[in-house]
Amino acid sequence: MGQITELTQVIPAAPGKPVRPEAAASQQASVELALHPSTWSHDQAEAVVRRYTELAPVWDGDRGGYRPVPLTDALQRGGPWPDGLCLEVGCGTGLLSGLIQDVWPEVISLDLTWAMLTRAPGRWRVLGDASRLPVGDGSTGAVVLADVPLFAGEVVRALAPDGVVVWSNALGEDAPHHVPIPTVLSALESASDAQWSARTAHAGWGLWAVLTRVS
Ligand SMILES: C[S@@+](CC[C@H](N)C(=O)[O-])C[C@H]1O[C@@H](n2cnc3c(N)ncnc32)[C@H](O)[C@@H]1O
Repeated sequence: MGQITELTQVIPAAPGKPVRPEAAASQQASVELALHPSTWSHDQAEAVVRRYTELAPVWDGDRGGYRPVPLTDALQRGGPWPDGLCLEVGCGTGLLSGLIQDVWPEVISLDLTWAMLTRAPGRWRVLGDASRLPVGDGSTGAVVLADVPLFAGEVVRALAPDGVVVWSNALGEDAPHHVPIPTVLSALESASDAQWSARTAHAGWGLWAVLTRVS
């Protein structure tokens, strides 16, 4: 497996990290999906839409304070960044879209839940499922995944050869969508038949990783 380099944490974690009781079960499902994407089902997609339709009105108010922290750190320290189109997978209400657009002026923001997506400010918003990304092969310079399911085959298909994957979990190892970075790396390697490397760091309550193919 490719190399994982951990950078020093520069943004400390404040007291009062929220606890998500659903995290353990959700993490198990997220790992299962990262390793076996063909298990994704219509019922799972419907459950996601139900859950986030309920959460959409309170998402920014409840979570807006801490969610941008790891991605901000990733975008400051995780580069250099390739040019090109960026695909923000599972953009939600667009809490992070502005940060991404500061790096990649052209961002497609994708989400499965209309109630979330309709609140997002992005210029190009697409209602769709990350298991079938709405872009051509090799057409994107970056794919950003902030607390969303990983469909590694689709990410690899969408990325240009020098493209980057930016991964973040706003509550770190306690996030419902957390997948350990070695598992993310290994899923990308299996999907691409290539070696990848990762740089990673903790930031605030969260963590991030930037993953690239080893040339
Ligand atoms: C935990 S929220 C994260 C939202 C945003 N990235 C943020 O950090 O605030 C997960 C989002 O991913 C979306 N999502 C979950 N599964 C998806 C899928 N298969 N395809 C597209 N979006 C999905 C949900 O609808 C929800 O908006």
